[in-house]
Amino acid sequence: RGRRISVRDAQAELRTLSRATDACRECPIGQYATQSVFGEGPVRPVLMVVGEQPGDKEDLAGRPFVGPAGRLFDRAVAQLGWSREKLYVTNAVKHFKYEWRGKRRMHKTPGQREAEACHHWLESELELVRPHAIVALGAVAARSLLGHPVAVTRLRGQWLEDPAGRRVLVTLHPSALLRGDPAQRESAWEAWISDLSAAAPLFA
Ligand code: URA
Repeated sequence: RGRRISVRDAQAELRTLSRATDACRECPIGQYATQSVFGEGPVRPVLMVVGEQPGDKEDLAGRPFVGPAGRLFDRAVAQLGWSREKLYVTNAVKHFKYEWRGKRRMHKTPGQREAEACHHWLESELELVRPHAIVALGAVAARSLLGHPVAVTRLRGQWLEDPAGRRVLVTLHPSALLRGDPAQRESAWEAWISDLSAAAPLFA
């Protein structure tokens, strides 16, 4: 840690890491995925946003947060007046874990085994990207970043610190909003925006 490398070298190393994750078989899920989905965005950004794992659409596109959860995330970014080009967006787990249901590939939450096996990729990404601060979307991201189980519903909207002293804002994963009670959709949305707005001063 603390290795100071140029932006160009960091970008080149990130591309190398991305290819390496594609070939990663350190846990069982990589072999069933179309490809890995590595992070994307600028190095040294204001925020690094960490999701859980790619979904079906991301697995096919090879890019993070381009499916339904990504659309919700984009809406929040727009509402907050941020721009996605200023964010580095990635996931705790780089391959899509799923099970077949008929002809559909249904998301399966990655287990601790997969999250732990994948953790070193995220750590390398953090060291190269060097974000000002981090947003953890959901419990898998929060646990991977902080190194212990995190009660997201209790700690949401708060700044925590990872073992390296990086600032981590914890909130729900956008998929939780998609799954939530339709009658509560509006208030759940507002609460999510309120959590994320704890990072707004970083953009001022
Ligand atoms: N959900 C995630 O956590 N990450 C993605 O990239 C897409 C959906």
